[in-house]
Amino acid sequence: MIRGAWGRDPLLPRAFSLLSAGPGDSAEILAKAVGRGTALLERALPGAELDVLGPLGNSFPDPHPDTVDLLVAGGVGLPPLYMQAAHAAARGQVDRLEMIYGGRRAVDLVLLREMEAMRLPLFLATESGETGDRGVVTKTLEARLDAHRGKPVRILSCGPNGMLWAVARLARDRTVPCFISLEEQMACGIGVCLGCAVPARSRPFRYVCSNGPVFDAADVLDAGAPAPEPPACPS
Ligand SMILES: Cc1cc2nc3c(=O)[nH]c(=O)nc-3n(C[C@H](O)[C@H](O)[C@H](O)COP(=O)(O)OP(=O)(O)OC[C@H]3O[C@@H](n4cnc5c(N)ncnc54)[C@H](O)[C@@H]3O)c2cc1C
Ligand code: FES
Repeated sequence: MIRGAWGRDPLLPRAFSLLSAGPGDSAEILAKAVGRGTALLERALPGAELDVLGPLGNSFPDPHPDTVDLLVAGGVGLPPLYMQAAHAAARGQVDRLEMIYGGRRAVDLVLLREMEAMRLPLFLATESGETGDRGVVTKTLEARLDAHRGKPVRILSCGPNGMLWAVARLARDRTVPCFISLEEQMACGIGVCLGCAVPARSRPFRYVCSNGPVFDAADVLDAGAPAPEPPACPS
């Protein structure tokens, strides 16, 4: 959770994933400016002081010796999967991973050279068709699932929630284990304000900041109670 010395607007810190951590206390994030907080961060000058609370939350499961992990990243959902790949590369386990990475346009796909340098198998998709497959990243994921048919695979995914639910449904239909890193608006980041609750099967609610952000997709997909019927209008 990061907040600059920007007075009262915006009041709350903003959540970011770690792109890398270390050496020492240093860390990198990859931030996309979407609103006021991220725009202020983008304009921060070198040496500016920031309030940082973290690291918080959990991470994706470690690579498994007998399984290929399909890392499915959408846009700015790349950082935690990039970090997963960097750790695997450092341990000589990069052959157990594939990165399936999509964005609207070619300019949305970043750190490609760094991932190639890790020798990480890369499968790209852009909605514009400028780079990789033309279309949404789930289409490329389907093709990779077909290529691995009959072999043990898992899906680890991070990106916009709409994409994550589509990935989780695909995994459920193919009976593939799937872990998704959910995005929710956050206030405290430490499980106190209860502002980041998501319905789950294992408990009525799980909290994205403290129980997540990574969840077993089977626990949270379609876990919300159906909305109650609206009262009939008096005639
Ligand atoms: C666990 C987690 C990890 C994240 N990691 C990264 C990261 O590594 N890099 C990165 O660039 N962004 C990341 N985000 C998203 C980032 O927190 C939001 O983009 C940021 O809070 C927006 O703040 P803002 O003041 O710029 O925008 P606001 O002015 O608050 O909002 C601008 C627009 O963005 C939407 N929005 C705001 N916050 C969120 C949110 N948390 N999730 C989805 N939509 C939001 C608003 O609805 C609005 O449409 C992460 C979010 C979470 C929860
Ligand atoms: S952000 Fe406060 S409980 Fe999750």
